[in-house]
Amino acid sequence: MQVWAVANQKGGVGKTTTAVSLGGLLADASQRVLLIDLDPHGSLTSYFKYDPDELETSVYDLFQPEREIDKRLLERLILPTSNPHIDMIPATTALATLERKTVGQEGMGLQVAKALRVLKDQYDYVLIDSPPVLGVLMINALAASGHLLVPVQTEFLALKGLERMLRTINMINRARKRKLTYSLIPTFYDRAVPAAVSALRELHQRFPEQISAAVVPVDSKFITASAKGVTPSAMDLSTPGVQAYIRILRGLAERSRS
Ligand SMILES: Nc1ncnc2c1ncn2[C@@H]1O[C@H](COP(=O)(O)OP(=O)(O)O)[C@@H](O)[C@H]1O
Ligand SMILES: [Mg+2]
Repeated sequence: MQVWAVANQKGGVGKTTTAVSLGGLLADASQRVLLIDLDPHGSLTSYFKYDPDELETSVYDLFQPEREIDKRLLERLILPTSNPHIDMIPATTALATLERKTVGQEGMGLQVAKALRVLKDQYDYVLIDSPPVLGVLMINALAASGHLLVPVQTEFLALKGLERMLRTINMINRARKRKLTYSLIPTFYDRAVPAAVSALRELHQRFPEQISAAVVPVDSKFITASAKGVTPSAMDLSTPGVQAYIRILRGLAERSRS
């Protein structure tokens, strides 16, 4: 089982879209995919037409110290999606209270990792969508994952935000035996915008090893796919955004083989 967290301490950079697009492509290749929504906004949950305000069970249930994380609990949390190869553990808006509730509780950083240990034979890939704030949820996402995907908008301010994420990765790596590696995925790229071109050039110069095999262009098909609740590749395989994620996925597969 491969576990990839998608994270950036900035909202609206394409995290949820990256999780759904890559998950969809893996599902198209008949891989068994689990998506986990760790963002209290519940965008991933809403994407697949579940209401984060109404759900009674969610990833929140992993954070009840008295409850054992076993197959029985997880079976209750896992929901089907519009894609037969993709399951999801949804978020509820109650997740927003978690940061306050877990202050001072030991071991709460490994709840998702524990759950994935139980599920390791059930899925080939797990993609974790994380919130844009550094807290117990992001720590869980990073601790559970083997490789991190960081979508970065190709604009100057987003590059500044990236610094914060890199500091977080360094902090996590001081506590980990096996270093958390990461890939940067440039998103919302518009080559007609000079500032975007120079932001992309800077990313290539500074992170030649980490930059993904392709750049995700601005593509309105992502918005249409999310309105329909289907993965972008299930809606339109030929659209430039999906084609970019295909190349990115190929690059990620190559790096995990090497
Ligand atoms: N490459 C893109 N081109 C156009 N719109 C996009 C692209 N990527 C994401 N979007 C749209 O932008 C919004 C924010 O993207 P999202 O993936 O939800 O970001 P995040 O999860 O980082 O907050 C969503 O409405 C999404 O459909
Ligand atoms: Mg999101």
